[in-house]
Amino acid sequence: MRIRKLRKNDFFLLNELDWTPLPKERDSIYLILAVDQGKCSFIAEQEGEFLGVVLATRGADGGSIYVNHLLVKGGSRQRGVGKSLMDRLEKYAAKEGARRIWLFCHAELEGYYESRGYCERYDFLTPELKKYIRTVKGVHAYLKEIQPARHSGDR
Ligand SMILES: CC(C)(COP(=O)(O)OP(=O)(O)OC[C@H]1O[C@@H](n2cnc3c(N)ncnc32)[C@H](O)[C@@H]1OP(=O)(O)O)[C@@H](O)C(=O)NCCC(=O)NCCS
Repeated sequence: MRIRKLRKNDFFLLNELDWTPLPKERDSIYLILAVDQGKCSFIAEQEGEFLGVVLATRGADGGSIYVNHLLVKGGSRQRGVGKSLMDRLEKYAAKEGARRIWLFCHAELEGYYESRGYCERYDFLTPELKKYIRTVKGVHAYLKEIQPARHSGDR
């Protein structure tokens, strides 16, 4: 399995992908991520065949990375593809000095992210946003603090 950075023309793949059970975004979202967030978004593939993707967005001050979507295609799940994608993203964050990775997830995936060191956190949001996220969106906010890479050789 190979993990590579998202390329601009991966837009066409993202736009055609079956995102079930995740929502399919508007094409402009995929376009923006493919054009502008290729450094912190990654694709897993084997012999050119798509296995999975983590789409992420780096915040304006560079300190945080938000995971828009993590998706492994049906038939390739439970084989470490999601783990490899998240490992790659965390390595990127450590190397580039981003200190936090955060995301929203539904209750059934809390265990998945907790086992990867993510904690449910709302302290970086306002109380009003926390209430909206929990009651209207019905999701949980998870965050992992990232330790900076110690050597430039870690790149
Ligand atoms: C969630 C998802 C990305 C996981 O990817 P994956 O490649 O199947 O997962 P991995 O093989 O990397 O799993 C690694 C570990 O997590 C565990 N795990 C997988 N799904 C889990 C879940 N829903 N809850 C708890 N643990 C889970 C596995 O058992 C495995 O444990 P192990 O290392 O002890 O054997 C994948 O199932 C998927 O694409 N689901 C649909 C889309 C989705 O819900 N994305 C998340 C949006 S927040």
